[in-house]
Amino acid sequence: MPVTLRNIGLLATCRGEGPQAALHAIPAAALVWSGPLIAWAGAERDLPDAYRAVPSEDAGGALVVPGLVDCHTHLAFGGWRAGEFAERVLGRTYAEIAQAGGGIASTMRETRAASEDALLERARGFLDAMVRLGVTTVECKSGYGLNVEQELKLLRVYRRLAGESPVTIVPTLLGAHVVPPEYRDDRERYVSLLIEELIPAAARDGLAQACDVFVEGGAFTLDEARRILLAGKAAGLAPRLHADQLSDGGGAALAAEVGARSADHLEHVSADGIVALAESDVVAVSLPLASLYLRQAAMPARRLLDAGVAVAVATDFNPGSAPSYHLPLAMTLACILQGMTPAESLKGATLVAARALGLEATHGSLEAGRRADFAVIDAPDVEHWLYHFRPNACVRTVIGGTTAWAA
Ligand code: NIG
Ligand code: FE
Repeated sequence: MPVTLRNIGLLATCRGEGPQAALHAIPAAALVWSGPLIAWAGAERDLPDAYRAVPSEDAGGALVVPGLVDCHTHLAFGGWRAGEFAERVLGRTYAEIAQAGGGIASTMRETRAASEDALLERARGFLDAMVRLGVTTVECKSGYGLNVEQELKLLRVYRRLAGESPVTIVPTLLGAHVVPPEYRDDRERYVSLLIEELIPAAARDGLAQACDVFVEGGAFTLDEARRILLAGKAAGLAPRLHADQLSDGGGAALAAEVGARSADHLEHVSADGIVALAESDVVAVSLPLASLYLRQAAMPARRLLDAGVAVAVATDFNPGSAPSYHLPLAMTLACILQGMTPAESLKGATLVAARALGLEATHGSLEAGRRADFAVIDAPDVEHWLYHFRPNACVRTVIGGTTAWAA
């Protein structure tokens, strides 16, 4: 039986046509869904007679947007790193902390020591909080296990989460986060392990959909990343990159070269890198919380958008560079720090983010035939929502046609 949501003050459909700033928003709108899919979206005065007779709900004049898509998180990890935060505030850099054995290696130790059940319970808590913010799709990276057994443990956490939650979970293998300490003197052995054992295992069991590499001094070189990403691609895992985050390492051009779904971070992307992305279908993923927490210059999103690159917005939620899963905050920061308009930021956290996950045919926009994933926002329009930042402006989250949370 279809359900009609009436009295929507503004329905930001986020359909794909036109530039990223085009939200195709409909004032005084209605939305109809049937089971998990949208049946109709449009101005309420045009609501077909058949849908006037079905059960209806009242949106109270609120803003309705597609369920938010967080296309870059490191959701499952052991421990926290609040001490590093306090050190960075006093001037110690992320790279210095990593060189001294902290950073990702520190979270690796706590993640390896945690049981699969404990990691699941924690990730579930984070995910529930994200749903209350209007998030309905979450990409989840491994990357704190850093050996075959431990990386597969993290991917199994995500598989179990996907089985129990209505949220669409997209798992990504990030075995190439850093070289773990036990391989420090023979990094080639670790790269071989990734290519010959971990990628095939993750792909064979359908535990991952994408393969990500952190390309940076202190992590992986361009040549190593190319080999890993092409091996992943051959196994059916879509390439993604942590690129040009702390320095310009040519990651953007590599993303274009290997046909990656996305190049993420890009705080230090070069002019040539922007051109390479503009000539490709790679989505640039902006992670303004990470730039802010690391007190770095932000991604030049305005230049990327003006060059014709699609720019997604995500949280990068992790215990080091971005210890927050608040996607609406990241969207506001994308405006303030990166010169994205509120409209571009919303489309970046919905349809463009879905594209970075290969889901744009089903997720990220509100139109007939797409998933009935949406958030009801207490604001008159998108500009007002992202300008007047509050702990939570989302009053209801619907996933697959079912209310997952309501204030
Ligand atoms: O996206 N840059 C690499 N990875 C993460 C940080 C992970 C961590 O610090 O634990 C990022 O910023
Ligand atoms: Fe990340």
